[in-house]
Parts: sequence; C-alpha cells; structure tokens
Amino acid sequence: MSKPEILQVGPYPEWDQGPLDAAFTMHRYFEAGDKAAFLEDVGSRIRGIATRGELGANRAMIEACPNLEVVSVYGVGYDAVDLEACREKGIRVTNTPDVLTNDVADLGIAMMLVQSRGMIGAEAWVRDGSWAQRGLYPLKHRVWGKKAGVLGLGRIGYEVAKRLSGFDLDIAYSDVAEKDYARDWTFIGDPVELARHADFFFVTLAASAATRHIVSRDVIEAVGPDGMIINISRASNIDEDALLDALENRTLGAAALDVFEGEPSLNPRFLKLDNVLLQPHHASGTFETRKAMGKLVRDNLEAHFAGEALPTPVL
Ligand code: 8YV
Repeated sequence: MSKPEILQVGPYPEWDQGPLDAAFTMHRYFEAGDKAAFLEDVGSRIRGIATRGELGANRAMIEACPNLEVVSVYGVGYDAVDLEACREKGIRVTNTPDVLTNDVADLGIAMMLVQSRGMIGAEAWVRDGSWAQRGLYPLKHRVWGKKAGVLGLGRIGYEVAKRLSGFDLDIAYSDVAEKDYARDWTFIGDPVELARHADFFFVTLAASAATRHIVSRDVIEAVGPDGMIINISRASNIDEDALLDALENRTLGAAALDVFEGEPSLNPRFLKLDNVLLQPHHASGTFETRKAMGKLVRDNLEAHFAGEALPTPVL
C-alpha cells in the first residue's frame, strides 16, 4: 500500500524526521524555493499537513491541498492554523498539549528570576572584569513575597502559578471564569485590575482572534514602572507597539519575552532596550519535551490514517 503523502511545513529534529520519512512520503515545503509552484505540484496528493505551532497552516495552503484530511501541529498552540477553513472542509486538526506544560512553565519562572535579579548583566560583570575593577554588581529587585498576576489559568498558567506559590508570591489570576482548582489564588476577572495587582504579570493564555491584544496599552500601563510582563504564550496576545512604547519611556519597568510579532525577525526597537529579556521562542525546547511532541505528531497522523481515534484532537 502506498504511504500517505504529507506536506511538512517546517523542519523537525532528525529523531522525528527518520520515523516520519519511514511512515509517510514527506514533502518538505520549507525547502522549496518557489512555494506556490511546489504546492501546485504536490497539493492534490497531500492527505496530511505536519506543521509547527508558530508556522501553522493558512487558508491558501489548506485550499492548495484539496484532498487534505488532517493537520498535525507540533505545539500546543494552533492559532496559526486556519480552523475555520478546516471546519468547513471537515479536516481534522491535532496538537501536542500536556507534554510541554511543565517546561513552558519552568522557562517562564526562569525568565522572571533572570530578569528581576539581572543575571544576564551579572554574567557580563564577571566575564568583562567589572567585578574585579568596579566592585559589587548593582542591586536588583527581589522576587519572593511579591504579587503575581497570571492571565489565563489553563494548563500552563496553572503550572506557573503553582511554581510561583513556591516563591511565596501572592497570586491572582484572570480567566473567563473562576477556577475551582485555584482556591488558594485570587480571581480578578478584569485584566487591567489584574495588572494593577501584579508586580509580575504572566501572559499564559491560548491565543486566538478573541485574545488579540488582550494585553492592551491600558493593561501595560497598569503593570507600571515597577512591574514586569512575562510572555510565554503568543506575541499576538500583547499590543507590541504599546509594549515597546512603555518599555522605552519606562512606564513599564521590564519585560521578559519568548515570543514576538514576525518572529524570528523582531522589531529592532527591542534590541536597543536594556529592560527586556529576549528569548528565541524556546519555552518547550528541551530534548525530553520535543521528543514527546514529535511522537504525538506521528501518533496523531498514524492514528488518523489507521482509522483510529486521534490521541489529541483539536477538531
Ligand atoms: C514550539 C509552540 O516552540 O507549543 C507551542 O504552541 O509554539 C512551541 O511549543 C514550536 O511549535 C516549535 O516549533
């Protein structure tokens, strides 16, 4: 029997590529010079799309594959997949939830600590001889005992809040409704009110058209000159222009960001700032988690083509 043909939107590590190549005929979209011609050529044979969270699959790509049955996302976020187009055409969509939750939460906490305690500058202070020549490193801000706001208390937000409680932070959260699994934490529905409460404001909610710029200019201003915004979700959740303005004029104290509009190119204004920690969208980037994500991408594709229930369906 011939192997199902899959459009592969971005590269995967070799330990995923090998098994994918063995089970399917993989068409590497990311290697094609002329993407439109490539889709024109292979589109009608494609039965599955294997993509990554930040790359997704847009309507044009989906429509270029008239026999498409399933989109398998390497990532928990599927905001870059045109779900409406998939729904219309009865195309199944899967993602990789749960396996990455703890790593993403760990990185968020690490970003808060690194940024608040000035650890990047401290490393340079040692390496460039400042410690010996200039003496003690400038004082930075305490983390423990402060106030945290977690915007979006889903799987990742919950793990972030759990970790924050270990640092004795006073935790509040915002979500569409109060969560019965968060009895020790304060529910503050309005993101601006949550921002007012927070010294550390974590953005952990799943992105969609409805959450675009939920961290608005008002929310950013409410976090304030002594506060920090940590984003481990998607750039679209924050009004990035407002964030840059506030960081530049110090109406926001600091930010620690793993995601950017237009990543991997980012707005050059970020590079001029000394009050932002910049990370290359790697919150799920551990060997252990990425291997589990790759396995789920394959398991979903294999289950679909075997006519079995999808392990982690979105649609
Ligand atoms: C990955 C992600 O960094 O889970 C998501 O939604 O964006 C990430 O885990 C990405 O998909 C890897 O390319």
